[in-house]
Amino acid sequence: MGRSADAPTVVLGVTGCIAAYKACELVRDLQRRDLRVKVVMTEAATRFVAPLTFRTLTGEPVAVSLWDDEPAARVHHISLAEEADVLCVAPCTANVIAKIAHGRADDMLTTTVLATEAPIVIAPAMNVHMWRDEATRSNVELLRSRGFIIVEPGIGELACGEVGEGRLAEVATIGEVVEREARCTQDLAGLRILVTAGPTYEPIDPVRFIGNRSSGKTGFAIAERAARRGAVVTLVTGPVSLPDPFGVTVVRVTTALEMRDAVLARLAQTDVVIAAAAVADFRPANFAGEKIKKDDAPRSIELERNPDILAEVGALNDGRMVLVGFAAETGDLLEHAHKKLRDKHLDLVVANDVSDGSAFGGSENRVVFVTHHGTEEMPTLPKWRIAEEILDRVRDAVQDRP
Ligand code: PMT
Repeated sequence: MGRSADAPTVVLGVTGCIAAYKACELVRDLQRRDLRVKVVMTEAATRFVAPLTFRTLTGEPVAVSLWDDEPAARVHHISLAEEADVLCVAPCTANVIAKIAHGRADDMLTTTVLATEAPIVIAPAMNVHMWRDEATRSNVELLRSRGFIIVEPGIGELACGEVGEGRLAEVATIGEVVEREARCTQDLAGLRILVTAGPTYEPIDPVRFIGNRSSGKTGFAIAERAARRGAVVTLVTGPVSLPDPFGVTVVRVTTALEMRDAVLARLAQTDVVIAAAAVADFRPANFAGEKIKKDDAPRSIELERNPDILAEVGALNDGRMVLVGFAAETGDLLEHAHKKLRDKHLDLVVANDVSDGSAFGGSENRVVFVTHHGTEEMPTLPKWRIAEEILDRVRDAVQDRP
């Protein structure tokens, strides 16, 4: 398959499980994306697919053993580690995940993983119980916290006959993530970006609150992608169950007032604000210090307005910061988005129709970009792709600043 001379190199690690045959399709997928692929296999993987298959597909030597004295396979853990623009292990078994998480380096693949400084993408594949096992869960979280990118396995029929999570993610999904990392540039280096995410909870009493269904996925994706592109990122988030994105300073708050304080306190060190949080517009006027008993329950709760954080930021901006807001609407999407753009003095509004509730919590969304120059409708995209699109526009807006 033809490839440009400067095509980034992907080192593809293949481990021993039945999904190893899908690594052959993955090689093809990556090549179609104009990426050069070199394969390293564990001994166990060679029981499922012959190295010759990968050698033929890639036109490159395949590394298996640390002790091979074939010239092609010598030294390879260091040279492969250095050559990799991205290292991807797909499929990755529970055993190899555990070895990587604990720094074991006893074969060609795990030594290469330990030696590389390239971004590492792991696509696990295993039985559902192995995937859910506490040991695997904590190994995966350990890897994530160190910046490994995990392409979550899908749900479906597994080789063992069971149905559940553990099936290797779709080849195209893995290919897309690998390509993203292979072509990731540091185009946001030097920018200080503040992102808000999640809902806010406005307490009624010690156990009840007013809130909404924002999961934080959108804001976390923006923060994670911005950090990978070189920005210094602070994420101010309401209560969500997502782990801290790698390389991001995370400030966890509960209420809108706390979010406002956290944002305003950091504005002097901020070049860009991206407000993805679904801030509660109202809070109960009175907080009951004790849990309200059923029999004493009021028939109504008096509410008072929360400050509009983004509007305050817009009013304080002297033109130095680039400001991005969201508009969550159930009707007249564009009209409301344009109004928010003007009223809050924003550079970009990311408008989403939330009438069917799917924007909240899902992994995909459909948005319209609204600026002072016009509107741009996007197709349904994964939230990380929306994050990249927003960040492209932020980069351009910063460059356009006088
Ligand atoms: O978190 P997810 O599950 O991924 O869901 C994503 C999302 C649906 C929450 C996200 O796409 C989204 O639409 N976020 C903004 C939700 C919202 O509050 O929209 P709004 O139209 O009410 O607010 C407009 C803008 O002002 C937003 O940027 C908001 O962060 C900001 N705002 C709103 C109210 C307030 N008191 N202070 C604010 O800063």
